[in-house]
Amino acid sequence: MEHLALDLAVDFEARRLAGTTTLRLAPHASERLLLDTRDLDIRHVTLPESDTPAPFELSPPAPHLGSALSIRLPPRTRTVRIEYATRPGAAALQWLAPRQTAGGRRPFLFTQSQAILARTWVPCQDTPSVRFTYEATVRVPPGLLALMSAENPTAPAPDGVHHFRMPQPIPSYLLALAVGELAFRPLGPRSGLYAEPPIVEAAAWEFADTQRMMAAAERLFGPYRWGRYDLLVLPPSFPFGGMENPRLTFATPTVLAGDRSLIALVAHELAHSWSGNLVTNATWSDFWLNEGVTIHLERRILEELYGQGVADMQAALGLSYLDAALRDLPPADTRLHLDLADRDPDEAVTDIAYEKGGLFLLELERKVGRADLDRFLRAYFDDFAFRPMTAERFLALLRARWPDLDAARLSEWVYGTGLPAGAPRPVSAAFRAVEIEARAFGDGAPPEGLRTEGWSALEWLHFLRSLPPDLSTGRLAALDGVFRFTASRNDEILGEWFPHVIAHRYEPAGPALEEFLIRVGRRKLHEPLWKRLAATPEGLERARALWRKARPNYHPIAAAGVDEIVGETGR
Ligand code: BES
Ligand code: ZN
Repeated sequence: MEHLALDLAVDFEARRLAGTTTLRLAPHASERLLLDTRDLDIRHVTLPESDTPAPFELSPPAPHLGSALSIRLPPRTRTVRIEYATRPGAAALQWLAPRQTAGGRRPFLFTQSQAILARTWVPCQDTPSVRFTYEATVRVPPGLLALMSAENPTAPAPDGVHHFRMPQPIPSYLLALAVGELAFRPLGPRSGLYAEPPIVEAAAWEFADTQRMMAAAERLFGPYRWGRYDLLVLPPSFPFGGMENPRLTFATPTVLAGDRSLIALVAHELAHSWSGNLVTNATWSDFWLNEGVTIHLERRILEELYGQGVADMQAALGLSYLDAALRDLPPADTRLHLDLADRDPDEAVTDIAYEKGGLFLLELERKVGRADLDRFLRAYFDDFAFRPMTAERFLALLRARWPDLDAARLSEWVYGTGLPAGAPRPVSAAFRAVEIEARAFGDGAPPEGLRTEGWSALEWLHFLRSLPPDLSTGRLAALDGVFRFTASRNDEILGEWFPHVIAHRYEPAGPALEEFLIRVGRRKLHEPLWKRLAATPEGLERARALWRKARPNYHPIAAAGVDEIVGETGR
């Protein structure tokens, strides 16, 4: 396929998208078109060129892959139209009732297509190796704004009919749609922010540096090729921190800390405009090529804007996530290149891809020098823009550019388990100081005596991660009394505080913990807490009772994750 035209009506009552998708195919000599679908009701397939129906078959559904839609094509067919509807449980879609939004008045819908969920709302070649341009007509109830990973309006269409155009070719996992009561605020000439009206001012303030980040990224990695870069802040059930939908990053509201402390997320999603969206992993087995390179770019951007101290803290935090992943994952899953075969590509989403990938680039930078690696990356984005990339090819590029690098070591990074001996271990001077205070507290020092003046959220996150595991409930209460973690408005800090709360049964924080688990759909923040609750029999009982209340708020993919942890569906 080389172009896709969608015409969809959004039906909030039926929780259904219904309409047509028209595919334009590249010149070909095939007798059959095979498309990915999952949980779609396919009504008709027609060939607009001849105005005739086309015979089609749907294969029996396979786990996570869905059903192949096989369409018989007369010779030289270039256009195929599929009339279809989604199902209420479509895994890419979250339908929110008005009370699940900040505004509380209107319903909300958003999609999450990565990795292979686009097929649950658009029949398509759902692989990162195939790119297409697209256009769309989206019909929504009056007063609601529809936005896509495309050229976007800034205000609702009076008749509810919104038109979109995406002139750059994208892979299917970057198809995205959101519909809700949304307002727009400009952040600069080429960027702006969409959010529900009650939070739009706070969000625009939080992300005020976006335009400067764009400028820094372009200096480092070449022109931004997507026109505008806007952000959409979603309701808190959004299952990820961010999603790099082109022209319109989707972001969790859990980074609206009120102090701009969590904007690494913007640097990260913006960086995907090069690594991922321009040069794309050919298959999900090389997910690290998207995320590991992006982690490196993210930290380069942060260093340009905020200095080495901030970039070092992010790298040190990343290393602690990596150490945990190396400890917890089966060795075979600690490779950068994974052989996913029949596995769900979501299983590749671990800190290995992100942080081992990032560390690989950091080692390269240390070996070849920053200026040279920056130049290499810039040429890489130019040369392979809008094309797929594999680990094999990436390694060949490195060997060609730097013949003196140890080729066996490069391969070990990509195909070996664990970390190569002598891999870099980023350190942060600020975190050293934090560790001293965490140790002092562990040794019995009173919390009010700790030297915490001027700590940023990152330092607090590291402090909480550095506390010894064997604190008493009383010590936890003392800490909370001084630093008021339970009342924190920073959801990432809460995410590091609650594991201690659960482990030491610190009851005063119980209501806040429950509120958090009901509200926050971001998997990275809630999954560790559900796991920790599920680790003891009483905790598991409590988790199951709470899950019955929380589940209706969760996106289908997040809900599936917690179902597995608590061992029941809660339905
Ligand atoms: N592309 C990812 C999110 C993703 C990955 C969704 C795989 C579905 C499958 C996004 O760029 C990302 O990495 N988000 C992080 C942000 C963080 C690293 C700043 C997240 O959601 O936590
Ligand atoms: Zn990412």
